[in-house]
Amino acid sequence: MPPAMPAAQEEKDSTVQKQLPHRYDGVAKVTGKAKYAHEFEVPNPAYAVMVQSTIPSGSLKFIDQSAAAKAPGVLAVITPFNAPELPKPKPQPPARRHVTVFQEKDIWYNGQPIALVVAESLDQARYAATLLHITYNPPPAKLNFPGRLNEGRPPKQQGREPADSKRGDVPTNLSNSPTKIDVTYTTPVQNHNPMEPHATTAMWEGEKLTVHNSTQYIDGDRMTIARDLGIPMDNVQTVCPYTGGGFGSKGSTWSHVVLCAMAAKVVNRPVKLAVERGQMFGPVGTRPTTVQQIKLGAGPDGKLLAVQHDVIEHTSVMEDFLEPSAFQSRYLYDSKSNQTSHRLVETNLGVCTFQRAPGECTGTAAFESAMDELAFALKMDPLQLRLANYAEKDVEKDKPWTSKHLREAYQQASDRFGWSKRNATPGQTKEGNKLIGYGMATAIYGANRSASQATVRILPNGRAFVGAATQDLGTGTYTIMAQTAANALSLDPTLIDVKLGDSTLPKAPVSGGSQTAASVCPAIPDAALQALLKLSELAVNDPQSPLHGLTSADIDTKNGRLISKKDSSKSETYAAVLTRNGNQTVEGQGSAEPAQSHEAFTSQSWGAVFAEVAVDIDTHMPEVRRIVATYDIGTLMNTKTGINQLQGGIVWAVSTALHEESHIDPSTGRTANESLAEYHVPVNADIGTLDVTCLNIPDTKFNPLGARGIGEIGITGASAAVANAIFNATGKRIRDFPITPDKIMQAKSVTQSVA
Ligand code: MOS
Repeated sequence: MPPAMPAAQEEKDSTVQKQLPHRYDGVAKVTGKAKYAHEFEVPNPAYAVMVQSTIPSGSLKFIDQSAAAKAPGVLAVITPFNAPELPKPKPQPPARRHVTVFQEKDIWYNGQPIALVVAESLDQARYAATLLHITYNPPPAKLNFPGRLNEGRPPKQQGREPADSKRGDVPTNLSNSPTKIDVTYTTPVQNHNPMEPHATTAMWEGEKLTVHNSTQYIDGDRMTIARDLGIPMDNVQTVCPYTGGGFGSKGSTWSHVVLCAMAAKVVNRPVKLAVERGQMFGPVGTRPTTVQQIKLGAGPDGKLLAVQHDVIEHTSVMEDFLEPSAFQSRYLYDSKSNQTSHRLVETNLGVCTFQRAPGECTGTAAFESAMDELAFALKMDPLQLRLANYAEKDVEKDKPWTSKHLREAYQQASDRFGWSKRNATPGQTKEGNKLIGYGMATAIYGANRSASQATVRILPNGRAFVGAATQDLGTGTYTIMAQTAANALSLDPTLIDVKLGDSTLPKAPVSGGSQTAASVCPAIPDAALQALLKLSELAVNDPQSPLHGLTSADIDTKNGRLISKKDSSKSETYAAVLTRNGNQTVEGQGSAEPAQSHEAFTSQSWGAVFAEVAVDIDTHMPEVRRIVATYDIGTLMNTKTGINQLQGGIVWAVSTALHEESHIDPSTGRTANESLAEYHVPVNADIGTLDVTCLNIPDTKFNPLGARGIGEIGITGASAAVANAIFNATGKRIRDFPITPDKIMQAKSVTQSVA
């Protein structure tokens, strides 16, 4: 909940907003009025089906399409043998993804798009696709990741931080540490499965192309489409008012988007392409599998003397992607010395990409489990171990935090959870046929922010408009844009109309890295101020206004009224000024970006996560009973959407801990469980109770609204809290995620008692 504040203070404090009680877009969604990418009505649409490779490497020998082309309703079969030739683009950021758009016959992974069948109906396209006769030249594929760890090499491209780091003398400090551990954790391939799979509708009108695509980055789509098709950016408009979840997979523009536009050109009419659920496992990005070796050394007081975190992970043969699982280990805790590394092993699998908290998700799953192992070896309470190593500053970069209140988060969450009741000796707490365990971990995610713009309009009907070319992935962007505009305009949030998801609006960044709130919202007060200035000018120059003759500087705003600062009896509504002056609308353009001075600081969000599990003694089935988490994420802009996001992140962390894994067939390289029936994600019964709170302490050094972003931190830490609770329950440490009953059954139990 937002802190209670006296009304006078609330009015002046830009970090406290009047909240919309419900999602701005809630009614449209539950009544089916919200249109998603595949649902946009276009004249006379044709339907495209994507055909995938059935081998993991090599090349296409031939695609015989004679039968398919003659099938009912078929308009076109597009393959690398007949596709329009496109200019050879130079992959460059941000439109740098290497997509396969039928310009070559090479095969890089099993499931790669290799043909598009376009027909009058979806069923006709699907049927015709089965008639293609495809032959390959299949050389051996690189598939055995665990057997090729020694092929790991540094990434070819520099990421947001260097892949390797070294501070102090880790080997010496490790060997001098009285207590040390050396453990290796593994995490599997995961695939994003938002409720709405990817989908695209493309329509040409002459040289102009309109693309409705389910995306996290409408402007990125525009850049990639223009680049790949070799057409001017101005000829492309991208539209996406609603994204049914993205989680990183919709931050890049994949093959199907460009192919859909290509198909619409070929058949000379609008084309719709829905990526099928099974096609979510490869052609649109994956989280790589990781092998993480962690060495920790500590003194008798628990102080970390050495931290070493070395990561090997798979990457596609097509392009590098680094899941930076060891980045957070550089600054999560204070330590005398620290070193980390990341290595990539090329594999014939689909391209790896951003997936919710790329790095911190898998990294904290391993590292925060290893911290629990260290606490156990030290016979120390895991929370006390974290407090003993509390990082008062970013030790790695030697910079202060813009704001950090993790201590309060530990306190609040541990009190709400009842951590003091934990039995430190594993395997001791029984309820009927179940072993009960408590575990905890720290959550961490960076605070990102990019330049953004916004438009605000004040209308003669008493309402206002705010717009930006940003996206709402279901996170609440509409809601917080409305609130921020309302706050800046002194209007009720229900009087604000929001438009986003259209590339003709003012530019905004990718909705990735949890940065949308912190990037887009600061541009809104600037735009609102410009609009209010124009409105004030109209009033002071209008002989019929009670404010006539004042200057804009003499005018305050409250509840939709312009008010004289000197004499509050002189006031009138925005609508009155505008209707009297020709029913006009006033508009302001705003922009915001991080100040240079931010480089002197590090900004991170933090959280404390506590989990209770029950493990059945006979079936070894683990069950999460409750999770209690408190986050320090700066200002909580909207309680409903914010807490929902954190809850969603925690649910996914439980999934990472216990359920989720893409099983890659080692002989074919195809994902064996390409469906939601076999790709296990939690249902309500798997989650138990969630108690999520935020400290709601504004970080105004990070941005004027004090909000640090919230989309990803929920998936961090919580997987380890669950794993640590399983250890506390059973005395069994499973270092291979997900922790399934078979692994618990086979693991050996430790018998040490912790006094
Ligand atoms: Mo997020 S994985 O940066 O969309």
